[in-house]
Amino acid sequence: YLNYQVPRTRKEIFETLVKGLQRLEYRGYDSAGIAVDSPHKTTSDINNSICLIKKKGKVKALDEEIHQKELLDLDEELHTHFGLAHTRWATHGEPSALNSHPHRSDKNNEFVVIHNGIITNYKELKKYLITKGYEFESDTDTEVIPKLIKYIYDNRENNSITFSTLVERVIKQLEGAFALVFKSRHYPGEAVSTRRGSPLLIGVRSEHELHTEHIPVQYNNAGHFKEEVQEKNSHNKSDSSNAINSVGDGKAVEYYFASDASAIIEHTNKVLYMEDDDIAVVKGGNLSIHRMNRQAGEDPVRAVQTLQMELQQIMKGNFEAFMQKEIFEQPESVVNTMRGRICFDTNAVVLGGLKDHLKEIKRCRRLIMIGCGTSFHAAVATRQILEELTELPVMVELASDFLDRYTPVFRDDVCFFISQSGETADTLMALRYCKDRGALTVGITNTVGSSICRETDCGVHINAGPEIGVASTKAYTSQFVALIMFGLMMSEDRLSLQKRRQEIIQGLKMLPELIKKVLSLDEKIKTIANELYEQKSLLVMGRGYNYATCLEGALKIKEITYMHSEGILAGELKHGPLALIDKHMPVIMIMMRDACYTKCQNALQQVTARSGRPIILCCQEDSEAIKDAYQTIELPQAVDCLQGILSVIPLQLMSFHLAVLRGYDVDCPRNLAKSVTVE
Ligand code: F6R
Repeated sequence: YLNYQVPRTRKEIFETLVKGLQRLEYRGYDSAGIAVDSPHKTTSDINNSICLIKKKGKVKALDEEIHQKELLDLDEELHTHFGLAHTRWATHGEPSALNSHPHRSDKNNEFVVIHNGIITNYKELKKYLITKGYEFESDTDTEVIPKLIKYIYDNRENNSITFSTLVERVIKQLEGAFALVFKSRHYPGEAVSTRRGSPLLIGVRSEHELHTEHIPVQYNNAGHFKEEVQEKNSHNKSDSSNAINSVGDGKAVEYYFASDASAIIEHTNKVLYMEDDDIAVVKGGNLSIHRMNRQAGEDPVRAVQTLQMELQQIMKGNFEAFMQKEIFEQPESVVNTMRGRICFDTNAVVLGGLKDHLKEIKRCRRLIMIGCGTSFHAAVATRQILEELTELPVMVELASDFLDRYTPVFRDDVCFFISQSGETADTLMALRYCKDRGALTVGITNTVGSSICRETDCGVHINAGPEIGVASTKAYTSQFVALIMFGLMMSEDRLSLQKRRQEIIQGLKMLPELIKKVLSLDEKIKTIANELYEQKSLLVMGRGYNYATCLEGALKIKEITYMHSEGILAGELKHGPLALIDKHMPVIMIMMRDACYTKCQNALQQVTARSGRPIILCCQEDSEAIKDAYQTIELPQAVDCLQGILSVIPLQLMSFHLAVLRGYDVDCPRNLAKSVTVE
């Protein structure tokens, strides 16, 4: 939303929207669309008409389409404009221009909407609207929303109904998860947005300082509550009109609605996060927020936060892909996870977000670690050391399975929700499930202000920096480090564990240097990838502390190379997987010098006895391990429970090189999205 004394050209508006989409492409990328005000010279009988451009494929294709449309008059200057743009990842209906967003109410584009999430009762709504004569053009769940708002508008009781009232009435009918932004030709220049269960933030850019650090939130029909809001405003020296800013002095103001800060960070670092059922309106240069339903004890302000994220952090730099860049960032990202939390001289570990809850955590019945995909693997990787350091039973759970089983959870359980994005729907639902049962909930996330951050009782931010490659790499190693730090904090007062703690803490200190040594093996790993890239399948085998590396390595290979890959617990080999081994099947064996070493040697013998040609990941100069190897990747030795941080990196690099050699787009694997915000 722009309001300028000096106008912007339509070309600049397109560029802003398209750039924002490109920054978000990693979240979903099968199609993209845009809605802007139609140029006046093409307007026929409809005032303020809206022009929609939608395209299957990448944002680049949409951009080309925009530039082909000669009628758009890219040089036209606009003082106030509100545009919408969206990248879609299909949930209902195939990827196509018709199914992509924005969706519209009718052929005249009276209302258009973009939606992130899923509407679970769309079938009923669609049926009803069809009986009222509405015609649907897409297969999506989203399309019921613009149709519904038009239906409510067409049946309004008076002509002065506001845009936000219409939106409120729409969301009362919706079930499921959504972040929505609406535009309408009946309300030119006005933006209305709302969310429930899907993330949404508002960026505010102004030439002058913001008047307030908080946005007061008004409650509809909230009686006395309104007074509390105003009282709070005076504490904060806020503008009690519930508007964040005004453009009366003609200064530039832009508002950005986005599901992720990376879409807007190049315009502003001032953001506020919307809560479920907030309705935000931008009108006449002012932003205001109100709520439909008041919950007792709810905080009636939304804080404006200053993000530390920098644009260069989300740019690719000299790397071929974001994933590659993120793999090579790990010496720094693990340091950022530890920064200010570990004192290497005194062996003290303090996680600020947990310290007030430490007593309660120490008294708990068990720890339950919940996550999906890579985040789940971080739990598997640290389970053993957490059992040792906390002396508590530790369960590790895949969020979807945990919910499917209606797992019993009790008030004296402590439940950890591990999620890079902090928005994964399955993990978020498991969090709500545990919260309802009275357990203490702890978030381990990489995204400040995400739903999991906000809804947990306490937590740890892993500070790995933005992760853009769909395949998670640096977030995994930082989750790993964060969970280890939690174990260290829990064992601070256990005399019997001090020696072990000290060993691990000193091991953490050396970690960045050891990671650099592993990264220096990149060329060797590329050479091995050159031998493997035409294979159909790749097994990754290990046990103990390195079992999680097998699961995580196999996941990386699957998701970006599309080869079949399986992480196998070496102890399970003889119970089935051994049947897969022959001279054609490539097997990567992880054999580090730890308590499982001899058992791993046994597994290796079983592989070589069947003419298998193992590629062995072992400690440097381990002549025992090397002697039966077809190829070796020698790693520096770390403390046993930290070794998994090093052993996963060659597999991250291997999957990257395999994917490049096979000709695939490493950052955008088919069928996958970075944030899985649907169940
Ligand atoms: C794999 C990957 C996924 C995610 C999973 C959970 O490389 O990235 O398996 O780990 O979708 O995502 P978060 O951690 O955001 O909850």
